[in-house]
Parts: sequence; C-alpha cells; structure tokens
Amino acid sequence: MDIKYNLKSASERRTEPFKPEGDVGFGKLRTDHMFLMDYRDGQWCDPRIVPYGPFEMAPGAMSLHYGQSIFEGAKAFMHEDGEIYTFRLNKNAERMNRSADIVCIPNIDESMQVKAINALIDVDRLWFPQQQGACLYIRPFIFATEDRLSVSPSQQYTFCVMLSPSGAYYASGVNNGIRLLISTKYHRAVSGGTGASKAAGNYAASLRAGKAAVEYGASQVLYLDSTNTQIEEAGAMNHFHILKDGTVIIPTFTDTILKSITSQSIMELGDMLGCEVRQETVMLDKFIADIEAGEIIEAGGFGTAAVVSPVSSYIFEDGRILTVGDGKVGPNIQRIYKLFTDLQKGNVAAPQGWVK
Ligand code: COI
Repeated sequence: MDIKYNLKSASERRTEPFKPEGDVGFGKLRTDHMFLMDYRDGQWCDPRIVPYGPFEMAPGAMSLHYGQSIFEGAKAFMHEDGEIYTFRLNKNAERMNRSADIVCIPNIDESMQVKAINALIDVDRLWFPQQQGACLYIRPFIFATEDRLSVSPSQQYTFCVMLSPSGAYYASGVNNGIRLLISTKYHRAVSGGTGASKAAGNYAASLRAGKAAVEYGASQVLYLDSTNTQIEEAGAMNHFHILKDGTVIIPTFTDTILKSITSQSIMELGDMLGCEVRQETVMLDKFIADIEAGEIIEAGGFGTAAVVSPVSSYIFEDGRILTVGDGKVGPNIQRIYKLFTDLQKGNVAAPQGWVK
C-alpha cells in the first residue's frame, strides 16, 4: 500500500537539527507528524502521514469503553555517519500482532508496520535529539474506533505511529540502581489473561501498584505470580538476576509475562556477551535466600524504554529491605548495558538484520 503525505508547511515544521540544551526526558516531546491507517470493511486502508494532532473519535468508540487498545515501543539511534537506524523493528511488528491476537484486533502485515515507521522517521528525521544517550522513541499503537456499546470485537480501528525524542526512562539511568517493591497484594496478570500482550489495560492495571511502590520509596513493583511464589516481571521491563559466576537468569516467558525484545536480544547475543544467559522459573524464596547468601550478586530489568536498568534493592510490604550485593551497580550489568547500547548506536557490529 502506498502512503499518502499531507505534511506541515515548511514554515510550520522543524528545519534545523534538534540539539536540545537540557535533558529531553522520556516520552515528553513529539515530532511534527504521525502515521495513521484505518481498518474498516474488513481491511486496513488509507495509510497516511499527517501533522501530529488530536484525533476525532466518537464518544462511543469501543477502545474508550472496553479497552481494545494495544501498543509497542521501539527505538531509533543516530550512528556516527549521521544516519538514523532502527533496532529490531521487525520484532516489534511481530509482537504487535501477537498482542492483537490476544485482544481480538486484526493483524497488520509486519512489513507494512515497518514501512510506516521508517516513512515517519524519514519525514521527521530533523527531530532526532542530538544529545548523549538520546534516541527517537517510536510508539506504534492500535485502538478500536467503532461507535458501539456491545461487548464484542470492534469492526473499526486506527493504527497510529508517533515519535518522541527521548532520553533515559529512569532518571538514574544505568549509574544508579532502582528499588523495587515485592508486592504480594497486587498482581499484573493471571494465566489465561492478557499479560503476554502490550494491551493498554495491563498498564492501567499496574498504576495502583505503581502508586503503592512510590509510597514505599520504590520506583516500581516486582510482580509475582498470583500464588506469590514465583517472580514474574517488573511491569515496564522484564526482571533478571546475575549469579556469582556471571550467569544471567531471566524468568521463563509464560502467558503472564511480556516477552521483552531486549531480553530476547540479550539471550541471542551468545558469545558476544561473554556469559551464559538462560531462562528458568524463579522461585521467590530461593531468590531471596540466594541474595542473602551472596549467590545472586546483581539484578535488574530489561526493556526497550528501560534498556538495562540495575536494581539495587527490594523492599517488602513489611518494610524489610533486601540489598543486592553491595547495592552498587555491578560490573556485569555495566558490561551488558555497554554492549547493548553500543550495538544500538552502531559502535559495535550487531547481528545481521538487527540494525536497519
Ligand atoms: C517500552 O519499554 O517501550 C515500554 O513499552 C514500556 C513503557 C510502558 C514505557
């Protein structure tokens, strides 16, 4: 399908490269345009790039009532040659369709998703934030637009891609660890539910738990399974820990865990990473005992927005604090972070097809 362009006039749009003075933060800024495509009469149609702005939507649009809405998060980086390269967009497109299946949204051809994102980046390329550690954060999403109140899959949708010139998700970046609240009260997902999708509702359901985390002085919740025995994930990122021999352990992906593309990439790096990475069921009791015994020396989260975020300590609901290692950011996490960001920025050659 050919994309139609209805662009802002030259006087309304950015004409100089974006060289921000202060930290751009995460997800706050927008670029001049967005990509849109609609689904009606059983097919995706009318792909177009238009000025970024509000949608016109019926108050009865089903996404507003029943939450039929999914999203993705991807990133593009500027390399030494001054070109912008995306990172593993095909994996995001694949995951978008997996999420779509889970909440009964019609799939979008993966190559069309990738084409849409590349076309938008091309139009708004001057918005790339030329600042240390920054990127163009790519947010594709699909939401139901049919004006109907029966609880059933919508017959109409919009696919939108917007871009946000962004820096680190956690202000502490990789230099300082965050604290996670180990919550036995709040759960993110149950088996047979929507936990493996990037459904908007999963994130709405995490807000109350996130508020509780803040009350405990934590940045986020470490979610357990609904029996409070296994470690699942940290909401905006997958959880991992590192054993004293350097092995990285990521909880086995189940239907209650979102498959992070960062986690998958780390697992696929093999020899480049210089350590073993494996998935296993992580029992909470053993995890705690192993931290206390010094068998687990580092921990953190993997995610597109969060990249590789170290966890310095956990807090329990009774106020007890469990510090990982000496509470400082360990050498293994620093090495993984450096390799991963070097691959994204083109400082180190990435596996075939990852950077385009
Ligand atoms: C991402 O890592 O891109 C995410 O989607 C997390 C987001 C909720 C900030």
